[in-house]
Formats: sequence, structure tokens, C-alpha cells
Amino acid sequence: MNLKDTIRVIPDFPEEGISFKDITTLLKDKDALKDAIDQFTELAKDLKIDLVVGPEARGFIFGTALAYNIHAGFVPIRKPGKLPHKKISQEYVLEYGKDSLEIHEDSITPGQRILIIDDLLATGGTLLSTARLIEQLQGEVVSIMTLIELTDLKGRDKLEKYDVHSLVSYPY
Ligand code: PRP
Ligand code: MG
Repeated sequence: MNLKDTIRVIPDFPEEGISFKDITTLLKDKDALKDAIDQFTELAKDLKIDLVVGPEARGFIFGTALAYNIHAGFVPIRKPGKLPHKKISQEYVLEYGKDSLEIHEDSITPGQRILIIDDLLATGGTLLSTARLIEQLQGEVVSIMTLIELTDLKGRDKLEKYDVHSLVSYPY
């Protein structure tokens, strides 16, 4: 199955010049959703992952399904002000805008093997911040996986010290 055929591309959303990759069309397609989760599962199954970490919001969609399949726990990375307990923060720059991400301090035990997953690798800001939060808590980032990679934005360069896998790619 070609996952790309199930992703809808919307020009000039949310701003002019941005070619938005709409994954809602993939998610509602039962075969495409299964195929994507199966591919992540195959990539992850021998990595001895303790925890899958996914950034809000779209990282949650793939993260919990993958965690279930590989019998790992799931830890959410959240946008500011959402987590109720003691947390640490990391600021990041987005393809369009700026934000920060937070993780509960007690969500990772030092030395745990972590897999980060999200829907999209664009500039790499989100995934790099996520990796930094994990490393501040002394987790080991074993692998980073995304459904989509926008290769012209060179997010992979920011993540060069990590093992990065994407299932489909577009230039931008
Ligand atoms: C989008 C996307 C990735 C991130 C990729 O999330 O889901 O998480 O941007 O961009 P980057 O590689 O340049 O950091 P967004 O923050 O728009 O929000 P959402 O997942 O909550 O919809
Ligand atoms: Mg996101």
C-alpha cells in the first residue's frame, strides 16, 4: 500500500507558502492506519524500548498505538500549562511560530530506552526539543520515528546524532 496516496496535501495552510500534509485522510482509512502502525512496529520491535514518547498532539495518535504493540509505556510531551505535576520545559522554533514543550520530571527513569514518535519531521525543532527533554531526565534516545519527513527543511541534520526513520517523504 502506498501511504502517500492517503495523505491529503493542502496548499497555503495555515499560512501562504506552507504545503500542509493532512493526515486525517490517512487516519480514517483503516488499511492505511494499520499499515503505518505496522511499519513503525516492525522498525521498533527489536529495539528493547521501555517507553514511547510522543509530542502533543499528533505524536499521541501514533505513539500509544505503537507503545501498545511493542509492550512499552507511553509518555506524553505537552504544550505549556497542561501537565499537572513537577515538570521541565524546553523552548523550540516551529516551521511557523514558536512554542515550548513540557514533560513530567518523574516520567522517565535514568537509563530507560526511549523511542520518540511524531507525525511529521519538518524543521526538526519539535523532535530535537523532545530529545533534549528526555536526555535531561537521563533517558536514552534509541530511535526517532515519523510518518512524514519534509526533506528540504533539513530537520534530519538537526537530529544527526540520532537514528531517524520516516515512512514517507516530500521535498517540503
Ligand atoms: C506539527 C507536527 C510536528 C511538528 C513538526 O505539530 O505535528 O509535531 O509540527 O514541525 P518541526 O519539525 O518544524 O518542529 P504542531 O506543533 O503544529 O502541533 P500539533 O501536533 O499539536 O497539531
Ligand atoms: Mg505536532
